[in-house]
Amino acid sequence: MPEPSDQPMRRDHRGLHPEEKLARRDAILDAVARSSERMVAPEPWDALLPDMLRFLGEATKVSRVYVFEVQRHREGEPTVNQRFEWCAEGVHPQIDNPDLQGMPLVSSGFGRWAELLEAGLPVFGDIGEFPESERPLLEGQQILSLLVQPIFTGPRWWGFMGFDACEQLQHWEKVEVDTLRIAAIVLGATIHQHAREAQLRETQKMEALGRMAGGVAHDFNNVLTVVSGAIQLTRMDLAASGGETPMRERNLAMAEQALSRAATLTARLLEFSKRRDGAVRLSSVLEMLRHEEPLLRQAVGGRVRVRITHQAELERLSPVRVEPTQFAQVALNLAVNARDAMPEGGELIFDISTVDAALDPARVDRVPAGRWTLLSVSDNGSGMTPEVRERIFEPFFSTKPEDRGTGLGLSTVYSIVTAAGGHVAVSSAVGKGTEFRLYFPAANA
Ligand SMILES: Nc1ncnc2c1ncn2[C@@H]1O[C@H](COP(=O)(O)OP(=O)(O)OP(=O)(O)O)[C@@H](O)[C@H]1O
Ligand SMILES: [Mg+2]
Repeated sequence: MPEPSDQPMRRDHRGLHPEEKLARRDAILDAVARSSERMVAPEPWDALLPDMLRFLGEATKVSRVYVFEVQRHREGEPTVNQRFEWCAEGVHPQIDNPDLQGMPLVSSGFGRWAELLEAGLPVFGDIGEFPESERPLLEGQQILSLLVQPIFTGPRWWGFMGFDACEQLQHWEKVEVDTLRIAAIVLGATIHQHAREAQLRETQKMEALGRMAGGVAHDFNNVLTVVSGAIQLTRMDLAASGGETPMRERNLAMAEQALSRAATLTARLLEFSKRRDGAVRLSSVLEMLRHEEPLLRQAVGGRVRVRITHQAELERLSPVRVEPTQFAQVALNLAVNARDAMPEGGELIFDISTVDAALDPARVDRVPAGRWTLLSVSDNGSGMTPEVRERIFEPFFSTKPEDRGTGLGLSTVYSIVTAAGGHVAVSSAVGKGTEFRLYFPAANA
């Protein structure tokens, strides 16, 4: 039974009555429940996010709610990008703040955040009590206190969701911190689910395209055989009847040339679509790469420096189940792309390592647990925009002039690596370069 009291109700340091506090907790719980309901809808999560941030912002009575995505390059420090933001009326938005795009956490003085968030823990408190290295950037945004919760997609640290109080200090109650943690968990689970669905669709699309390309290439090959036969018969006929003229000879040569181009193209299509099951002997990635080194150097030309590096204790030279000729095709396609991305020259590095995806729970790329031989192929060339990166594995997708690119290079890489039970991942930054990471199941595992 509540005690009747004639004393004025106590206020906390924010000036909130206990009852207001309770009301706010309820509002936050309600907002989390409402956004969770929305998030299980089949719509893309990023379309639902603005509403979620608004619900949470209004319930917590903060000035800003935002979502950052973290990017991790292998062995590099995590960098973050602000992706979404909601602002209360009259609050200065930060979504266009260039300091918050591509921000390396550790070297910007936020190493503490990286450690806490990656361990699944929140960051919260009054900015005045934050370490020296963190204060200038936060104070520059007029933040007085904040709460940041990590977002995980499965085992992977995806990013974080934050709440800024700019108008008055906000003391975060445990129940608020915990409830907003649920909001971040729901968001992470939703992103994870959508990413897996998208990956599945992508795999299906590639398989369907592969089958289609294979069928077309096969029929086309038969047509080419007939054309080639007809040209030869015409040649023989002309020779026998003495009807050869320079003009006829030129026309036949032209037809033959076109035929040979068409044959190369169909051969590449067949290569892309070929089903590669059946027993394949073990080959060492390092040995295959060293074997192809002269060819690769020649392909990239004198302006591009080629380096082959590997982990010191590389296990038994990293055997994988890939045909050496197909491996050569993969390495060559990647090298030629790197060359095209570095017209002024640059460096192309092939690095081999063995990784244990169980120990490093798919932090970098979404590969299943187990031992993998990782071949990383990186260049410091032009890089790609996210729009280009989205489409590079599609057959016939090319940004190059028609006579230079058929757009089959990377779809072939993709199909060879996935047929070997592997995975392909890409990171790229415009003006900085590109890294392709090929994960092959380590055959000695
Ligand atoms: N290392 C790279 N740096 C920047 N962009 C790249 C890189 N590799 C591939 N790309 C982009 O991906 C596109 C597709 O590459 P892909 O190898 O499949 O086709 P292509 O090189 O255009 O033609 P092809 O290899 O069939 O001659 C390229 O056109 C280019 O825009
Ligand atoms: Mg290419």
